[in-house]
Amino acid sequence: MFDAIAGRYDLLNTVLSGGLDRYWRRRAIRTLELTGRERLLDVCTGTADVAMAGARARAGAARVVGVDFAGAMLAYGVTKIREEALEGRVQLVRGDAMQLPVADASVDAATIAFGIRNVQQPEVACAELLRVLRPGGRVAILEFGLPVVPAVRPLYLWYFNHVLPRIGRAVSRHSMAYDYLPQSVGTFPWGDAFGRMLTATGFSQVKARPLSLGIVYLYTARKGP
Ligand SMILES: C[S@@+](CC[C@H](N)C(=O)[O-])C[C@H]1O[C@@H](n2cnc3c(N)ncnc32)[C@H](O)[C@@H]1O
Repeated sequence: MFDAIAGRYDLLNTVLSGGLDRYWRRRAIRTLELTGRERLLDVCTGTADVAMAGARARAGAARVVGVDFAGAMLAYGVTKIREEALEGRVQLVRGDAMQLPVADASVDAATIAFGIRNVQQPEVACAELLRVLRPGGRVAILEFGLPVVPAVRPLYLWYFNHVLPRIGRAVSRHSMAYDYLPQSVGTFPWGDAFGRMLTATGFSQVKARPLSLGIVYLYTARKGP
């Protein structure tokens, strides 16, 4: 599915989120408090927006590896990395989040933006993140949630369930991809429920922060005490 929509993916992110997606990704990178020396892993990297944000940030990561199993998404990412002359610092690798092609305890920080919900066994992907992080390493995960203000929920759900799939279908020319988005968000744990999955995996200092009224959550955690 992601291969089929790869060419329109970035445009749709901007249109459907009103440009907020860039802020969410930058915010996730900021929480990692990079110093310029780190090796950062971006899982489910797609077209590499988070991976590039990790390299671009002030005192950004020294090296970034992005992993995704959709070759067409990665191909767009490679082009963007070249256009910004970041190929010396950002590499993309085809691989599965549930079996990362990365050595144990070899990365200082890791991110997943809007990817964990798509992975067949998210708890396996969380365990993989823990395996590849060095002790003390940090993780930042972005995923959709629901507005924390109950009065805003019906309006948001109308947009998310009815308007967004129509725009998605028209722009991506894919019949199902943007029906899948609200369906998958509706069944995935968010807020403290997903935080508990990270804690059960073995992460410490787990925090779930609502962004933009809670339509997105930023989860942060650490490996070790
Ligand atoms: C919604 S996109 C997010 C892309 C990017 N992180 C962003 O912020 O725009 C989800 C990505 O997860 C990838 N994905 C889903 N399951 C995966 C898995 N098991 N292993 C690797 N990539 C996976 C898809 O190929 C897709 O590129």
